[in-house]
Amino acid sequence: MNISALKPFRIGDIEIDFPVVLAPLAGYSDLPYRRLCRRLGAPYCTTEMMLDRCVAIQSRQQMALIATDEDDHPVAGQLIGNDPAVMAEAARLLADKGFDVIDLNFACPVNKAMRRKRGGFLMSKPHLAVEITRAVVEAVDRPVTIKVRQRFADDDSEENFWILAEGARQAGAVAVTVHARSVAQKYQGVADWDFLKRAKAGLADWTVIGSGDCLRPQDALAMLEQTGVDAAAVARGVLGNPWFFRQVRDLTEGNQPYQPSLIEQRELMLEHFDMAMKLYSPRKAPAFMRKFGIKYSRMHPQPKRIRMAFVGVKCPEDWQKVLDEYYPKR
Ligand SMILES: Cc1cc2nc3c(=O)[nH]c(=O)nc-3n(C[C@H](O)[C@H](O)[C@H](O)COP(=O)(O)O)c2cc1C
Repeated sequence: MNISALKPFRIGDIEIDFPVVLAPLAGYSDLPYRRLCRRLGAPYCTTEMMLDRCVAIQSRQQMALIATDEDDHPVAGQLIGNDPAVMAEAARLLADKGFDVIDLNFACPVNKAMRRKRGGFLMSKPHLAVEITRAVVEAVDRPVTIKVRQRFADDDSEENFWILAEGARQAGAVAVTVHARSVAQKYQGVADWDFLKRAKAGLADWTVIGSGDCLRPQDALAMLEQTGVDAAAVARGVLGNPWFFRQVRDLTEGNQPYQPSLIEQRELMLEHFDMAMKLYSPRKAPAFMRKFGIKYSRMHPQPKRIRMAFVGVKCPEDWQKVLDEYYPKR
């Protein structure tokens, strides 16, 4: 790895000291997990997508989605929607809540988003996406960024990408995250890193963040080196491994990637559970944490067994029991 490729980068007026960041992850990149990732080296994090017209709802679940704190900066709040005025109003609310950056999702491929003409659907309507971007830029006093895919359908040209990216830049967006797959592809196939290289070359004086297939710490470095993007956003590789960022930093210093002991994994999972119990209702937190436990099980030497144990978690006592049985105490 050419270490000089590891430069700080900028999101508008915010300088980020390390170019490997936490991607938005529905169901995962919440305040507790962002806190853990930051402590382990993530310099910048994005929330999961939040539906524009729901951000004002005062339910406990919605308040948890929108939660941020002093130790959670710089942080981007991601919005999904298709009405410029509603997106602008939601962006104002996120800014009031303390989000440093507003990120707009034009990339989500899930069926519900597509049916409701949001997220990745807007890759087929780039002019509307630009209009939304302009409305949000005008509404808030902080950087606005966009998240896009390479194209909408597999056999589309890349024209819509360029219309959207160039239009959003002219409208005042300061950065783009590019998931190098079509919307139709969802998560299948290999991310097209050649496209990331072309995207960065074509948007040379803009901040371009690459996304797709940084599954291991060395992949993030390879993406930076091979494509020239300003930063790499990591999603699936961080699920169950918040140490990912520390491991990337180790590699850049010529060290072996840090491997947390089972004792350390136990302590982190206890802390994570505790944070979730405070943020979500104690009734909902155990089921919510179950999916994290399933991801954490990958780092255990007996992954299948631990996975099955976490699948059965229904209450705080169950969570504690899995840890007591399979993870040693200090
Ligand atoms: C479970 C999961 C949830 C995701 N949620 C979001 C989301 O809320 N917003 C978004 O822009 N992308 C979301 N993504 C896409 C990721 O941010 C990322 O672009 C994609 O997974 C490719 O990166 P990877 O190969 O590192 O996983 C999600 C991906 C996964 C796997």
